[in-house]
Formats: sequence, C-alpha cells, structure tokens
Amino acid sequence: LKLGILASGNGSNFEAIMDAIEDSRLNAKVNVVVCNNPGANVLERAAKWSIPTVLLNHREFASREVLDQAIVDTLVQHDVGWVIMAGWMRRVTQHLIDAFSGRLLNIHPSLLPSFPGLHAVQQALDAGVQLAGCTVHYVELAVDSGPIIMQAAVPVLAGDTEASLQSRIQVQEHRIYPAAIALAAHAHFTKTS
Ligand code: GRF
Repeated sequence: LKLGILASGNGSNFEAIMDAIEDSRLNAKVNVVVCNNPGANVLERAAKWSIPTVLLNHREFASREVLDQAIVDTLVQHDVGWVIMAGWMRRVTQHLIDAFSGRLLNIHPSLLPSFPGLHAVQQALDAGVQLAGCTVHYVELAVDSGPIIMQAAVPVLAGDTEASLQSRIQVQEHRIYPAAIALAAHAHFTKTS
C-alpha cells in the first residue's frame, strides 16, 4: 500500500503507523505526509523517519476546494493509493473524497456515531458515558461520518480528566489504526463484486 498521511498536529498516529510498518504488522510505505499547519510536531516526526513532507497552509488557499485540489495534486504526484487522515483538522470536500473513493480513512476519538466533531473526549465526559473509545472509518462529507472499519472501547474511570481519558483512548488508536488500514486494504483487494 502506498500511503499518504494528512495530519495537522502531534502525529502520534502517524508514528504508530510507521512503527507498524517497521515491525511488518502493516505491509505499506508512507510516500508523503501532507500538513496544513507550519508548527505541527508531525513534521519533525516525518523528518526523523525521512518521509517527505508537503506543507499546504490552509491560510494561503482561497477556499476548501482550492486547498483540496492542491492536496489531491500532491498525493497524485507522490503516487499515493490510500489516504490516511491522522489528526487532520480541516473539513474535506467531495473532490478529495471522489479522488480516493473507498481509499480515504479517518480516525476519531469516540465511539461513533456518538460525539462527532471537536472535543469528542470532553463531549464523552460531559455525557457521563462509562465507555469511550475510538473509531476508524471511511470518510464521507459530513464530519466524522462514513462506514465504520474498526472500533476500540475503553472504560471511563472515576476522576478521569480530558487528558487522562484521551491518553487511554490514544493507546487504542495506535493499536487499531494500522490494523484497520490492513483490514480495509484486504477488503478492497478481495472484493469480488
Ligand atoms: C487523535 O485523537 C485522532 O483521533 C483525532 O486527532 C488526534 C490526532 O492525534 N482525529 P495525533 O496527531 O495522531 O497524535
């Protein structure tokens, strides 16, 4: 699998994917990391792994459509087959979805369809749920929607803060994202109809 990663921030999921590739849990190569945020830590992580990075600062694009056209062009130039959104904080357009139809994945820190959008972990705490978690899904136009590929649940513990629950969820994100990519690829390549 030739992956392109879209990331805006820390990049711990990018790193988990690299670790999975390194230990042969995922048969893939990351061809490029596209980032919209010049200060993002993911840029340093990618440099450490010698993965090419392309910075497309959304502030320099006139619209979501123009940004997404630049993203698609960049992914095509880097011969990307599968697009992995790993902490990508921009809404995507239909153009990007269509360009990588069935090969565009996202991870979200809730058990979707509960708590889409920003601050999902705080939303879960505010709702008083006893199980939180994370979801890997195919991307559709509505934020954090689309068919679910894999989920993991974690308990909400007494005294949890947003940070403590987030870190328990991230352990599971780092485990399921590489597995979900492999599962989606397997499903894609074995489709008979
Ligand atoms: C993750 O919690 C993911 O679910 C959400 O953004 C966060 C990204 O974390 N979409 P990282 O940048 O991979 O560390």
